Amino acid sequence: EKEGYPHFMLKEIFEQPGCIHDCMRGRINIDGNSVVLSAVIDYKEKLLKAKRFIIVACGTSWHAGLIGKHLIESFCRIPVEVEYASEFRYRDPVIDENDVVIAISQSGETADTLAAVELAKSRGAFIYGICNAIGSSIPRATHTGSYIHVGPEIGVASTKAFTGQVTVLTMLALTLAREKRTIGEAQFLKVVHELNGIPEKMKQVLKLNDKIAELSKIFTYAHNFIYLGRGYSYPVALEGALKLKEISYIHAEGYPAAEMKHGPIALVDAEMPVVVIATQNGLYEKVLSNIQEIKARKGRVIALVTEGDTVISKIADYCIELPQTIECLDPLITTVPLQMLAYHVAVCKGMDVDQPRNLAKSVTVE
Ligand code: M6R
Repeated sequence: EKEGYPHFMLKEIFEQPGCIHDCMRGRINIDGNSVVLSAVIDYKEKLLKAKRFIIVACGTSWHAGLIGKHLIESFCRIPVEVEYASEFRYRDPVIDENDVVIAISQSGETADTLAAVELAKSRGAFIYGICNAIGSSIPRATHTGSYIHVGPEIGVASTKAFTGQVTVLTMLALTLAREKRTIGEAQFLKVVHELNGIPEKMKQVLKLNDKIAELSKIFTYAHNFIYLGRGYSYPVALEGALKLKEISYIHAEGYPAAEMKHGPIALVDAEMPVVVIATQNGLYEKVLSNIQEIKARKGRVIALVTEGDTVISKIADYCIELPQTIECLDPLITTVPLQMLAYHVAVCKGMDVDQPRNLAKSVTVE
């Protein structure tokens, strides 16, 4: 059932264009100019009157939540907090019937996320689930929600679930923003149109697999990696680092690129691989100067850049060129090469990619 792939993880990485298409099916119309997430429409009164959204999740799903915060705040102008479910549930959080809680979980069985849902529900909050496993515990405990519809995910390292979660969060933000009238028609159309085109662009990214496999051989020596990004790319940096550590057992940290100078830059030397998400969006110039700072300390920069970038290719040690998209959808493109990088480094090191040590696919105990 690996369909010719050596591991489920690689199969699931390659399934992503189809998964995102399935995730959007029936939600975005054929012309790519309208998006409707039915749960948002069904419960729009609840969602529109919310003073605040709180996203609860763990691990990779928490990273998707950070992107969700950015999307919902910028499109819907609602404040969003993102919490580790395990911290939220034990803090006696301030929460009431004016709050909407979004619980994100691939398995729908994560113990801490489920407990966070139960707690928030007991305080009167409205609960919206974003899950993959149909009929699992979290969807059953929530008031409503949207499935990501990416099919079973077998590899312990979450890949297609992450891009599915980000896709649903994008559609949620767009549907709600339209109801709230916090998004202009032109911007709405632009984002929906671009979102519709993401599966094709992901296919282009997957063609880089051999190149990334080659690149990965260089880095099996490393004991540490740093991942940097800003804005929408900051959660992608965290996600790239988590992927690498869980399957290759290389220590990796993700940081907001500008935080480097507040401490972590002290770690950089000629041995240190630094992966920088440096696509041509909003904060490009700032990221460029962050790369210059790393190069001044002789760090080995692996940059994710937009196709045709001629500036960063001159300073970075290695460049991975990616198709252009709009800023808020960049994570759907930039995450994929980082999944491949983690996969190939782990394979080169001879690790059990689908079942890394000490980890279970769903964490049903706290
Ligand atoms: O099933 P969930 O989305 O609730 O799982 C949450 C985390 O346990 C999960 O994302 C974990 O971090 C993955 N192994 C990361 O690849």
